[in-house]
Amino acid sequence: MHGRGAGSGTGCGMVAVRFAPNAEWLADPQAQYRELRAQDPVHWSEELGHWVLTRYGDVVAVLKDRRFTAGNRPPQRRWGRATMMVTADPPEHARLRRPVTHRFSAGAIQQTRPRIQEVVDALLDEVEPRGEIDAVWDFARQLPRTIIAEMMGVPLEPPRLTPRSGEPARDEMLRPPRREESSEPPTTEQDRFFERALEAHRAELQDDLLQDLLASEAGHRLSAEEVLDTAVILYGAGQETTANMIGNGLLALLTHPEALAKLRREPGLAHSAADELLRFDSPVHTVRRKALEDVEIGGRTVREGDKVLCMLVAANHDPEVFAHPEQLDIERRDNYHVAFGSGVHTCLGGLLARAETEIAVSTLVRRYPELRLAVPPEEIEWTGSFVIRGVKRLPVALR
Ligand code: HEM
Repeated sequence: MHGRGAGSGTGCGMVAVRFAPNAEWLADPQAQYRELRAQDPVHWSEELGHWVLTRYGDVVAVLKDRRFTAGNRPPQRRWGRATMMVTADPPEHARLRRPVTHRFSAGAIQQTRPRIQEVVDALLDEVEPRGEIDAVWDFARQLPRTIIAEMMGVPLEPPRLTPRSGEPARDEMLRPPRREESSEPPTTEQDRFFERALEAHRAELQDDLLQDLLASEAGHRLSAEEVLDTAVILYGAGQETTANMIGNGLLALLTHPEALAKLRREPGLAHSAADELLRFDSPVHTVRRKALEDVEIGGRTVREGDKVLCMLVAANHDPEVFAHPEQLDIERRDNYHVAFGSGVHTCLGGLLARAETEIAVSTLVRRYPELRLAVPPEEIEWTGSFVIRGVKRLPVALR
């Protein structure tokens, strides 16, 4: 028998638990994660065609294990070929990541903090007169896009101010790639945007990320298409994720008055509070890997070619690792959460995202002592898929 099928978790036939990223999951993902972790932590989902891992130890082990590849998963811009770090395995991965790592280092992000603060202050100055704002669309979404545009040296595109109606579900990662047969990537508006920006950088030297990528091209470390694809991923990777993190994090604080009051009393806790918000309700629920050979995990055999979902948000609530995981403890110590993944693909922009979350949330809390939800918490709607999940809108009263 293949290692899948009837759950060995209970040792007695079919396991009732299942991973179903449906409306109930969207409203409360931890309910399913708790059941899966307790009853079938290495769960085979026939519906999704993936293994679903919910224990911290298993998730971290897979993400650090070279017997699993991050390659060949959609969305891939040039099928069959990794041209950006996120789908590349070592040693290609390091070649693609290295040219830009210094821009996201602790020192570089420390230097960016005053600018993040300035942008946060300016965004709040603009919306403050309204008294009540949608903290996601009026505020959170505008911050990461402004900062990454500046870091890359590209013009700030006009903001999208509301969710698009009929927006497609963001579960593309689990759909079969549609363009697998084609070797040509689709030319998108975004490609043209970056082609123009790269052209401008060729004409005039600048000190930014695009210039670093062009220097790598000149030094034959990256090809022209790798430069373009890396630019596209750097630009996109941190926008929706960080905006959702700020939204989810604010909601968590506003619905945990004790934690909120503590942060007000002790602003020095802003840093550990940001990490706790990342642990508590990060928007990135899963990362996907494929087994390159048979691997035993928790008594089950994951066969070569099997796909695995590492459920990061489930791992971050594993009681084996985090005491009282359902409590929002902004002073939590040894908070080794995996909101940014683990292993070689650990989020490149993690320190930037943490700084943006910390400054955005702590500034709101400091600046508006009356900050509160403007609707009852039950009315808050969630959107996204089990890949990325966030609050749709977050109406808050500033005064
Ligand atoms: C709260 C916000 C964010 C979260 C929760 C998040 C989460 C993640 C996770 C879980 C991964 C690992 C993917 C994997 O293992 O397959 C990742 C990778 C990555 N993230 Fe983030 N991210 C955030 C913000 C950002 C920002 C601001 C940037 C910067 C522009 C960024 C750039 C990247 C890149 C380039 C990778 C690929 C790294 C690699 O493959 O080596 N992310 N992120």
